[in-house]
Amino acid sequence: MVYDIRTRSGAVMPNLGLGTWRMGENEAAHREEVAALKLGLDLGLRLIDTAEMYADGGAERVVADAIEGRREEVVVVSKVLPHNASHAGTLAACERSLARLRVERIDLYLLHWPGEHPVEETLRAFTTLAEQGKIRHYGLSNFDLDELTRAEQLPGGPRIVADQVLYNLERRGVERRLIPWCASRNIAIMAYSPFEQGRFRPGGALRRVAARHDVSPAQVALAWALRHDNVVAIPKAARLAHVRDNAKAAEIVLTEEDLADIDRAFPPPRRDVPLETL
Ligand SMILES: NC(=O)c1ccc[n+]([C@@H]2O[C@H](COP(=O)([O-])OP(=O)(O)OC[C@H]3O[C@@H](n4cnc5c(N)ncnc54)[C@H](OP(=O)(O)O)[C@@H]3O)[C@@H](O)[C@H]2O)c1
Repeated sequence: MVYDIRTRSGAVMPNLGLGTWRMGENEAAHREEVAALKLGLDLGLRLIDTAEMYADGGAERVVADAIEGRREEVVVVSKVLPHNASHAGTLAACERSLARLRVERIDLYLLHWPGEHPVEETLRAFTTLAEQGKIRHYGLSNFDLDELTRAEQLPGGPRIVADQVLYNLERRGVERRLIPWCASRNIAIMAYSPFEQGRFRPGGALRRVAARHDVSPAQVALAWALRHDNVVAIPKAARLAHVRDNAKAAEIVLTEEDLADIDRAFPPPRRDVPLETL
């Protein structure tokens, strides 16, 4: 079942949402993309993840059409690009995103990845935006544990509610330290690219687990990412059949046997590895 995760600072978000990378790139696909997001919302995936980067703002425009008339149901997440993330640059980027999204407030605003501007400046801007009511909560993306620990010490750091990172069966490094560290502080991990952007190759073990539950290997991969209490997975699907499959994945309960089979096929790293990105 899709359920709400409550983080520190009172952010509430469903543990399964909808990604939008590669949406908004092509006018001909606009209607289908809006329909996919609307279907996701109908099926209870009430979080949409987007970014000013995606299609140069085009994905935010798709989101605007998908949430029209139902803004209050949806947790809207967007991101500022690192090269815009100075204090003034973040304030301006947020205004542009608000206009494209046609909303008065972004529920969760993230720094897309660590860049040239000191994080301190970005956090200061996030604090201003929260005070102005233009964002509800803020967080980071692609921050490894050492970077997140440093950010946590800065003014505004203790109000970081999420770190959005690459996490899937083939990218398990974050399980060693980052996920537990965030769990112990009530910070959400948003797992991006749960299907390795569609390049994911399941193999025999995952197919066997999928057959036991009468579901697809992709659904198992998603259910597996959702097994942590503090993980929000944000698969992207433009095809309606994929949206339906992803929503159903939240119903799958993996057994100890399933998890052991998965561990053998996709072993977690035995030592700390740097955060991977896509
Ligand atoms: N913070 C960051 O730096 C960062 C980086 C990457 C992504 N993200 C976010 O995370 C979201 C998800 O990641 P992603 O888009 O990179 O990749 P993804 O979700 O791993 O993969 C998307 C691909 O998987 C296909 N797919 C979706 N559901 C499926 C299913 N049930 N069975 C089989 N195939 C399925 C999609 O096909 P169709 O579209 O044809 O349905 C699409 O080709 C992004 O959209 C974005 O919002 C954030």
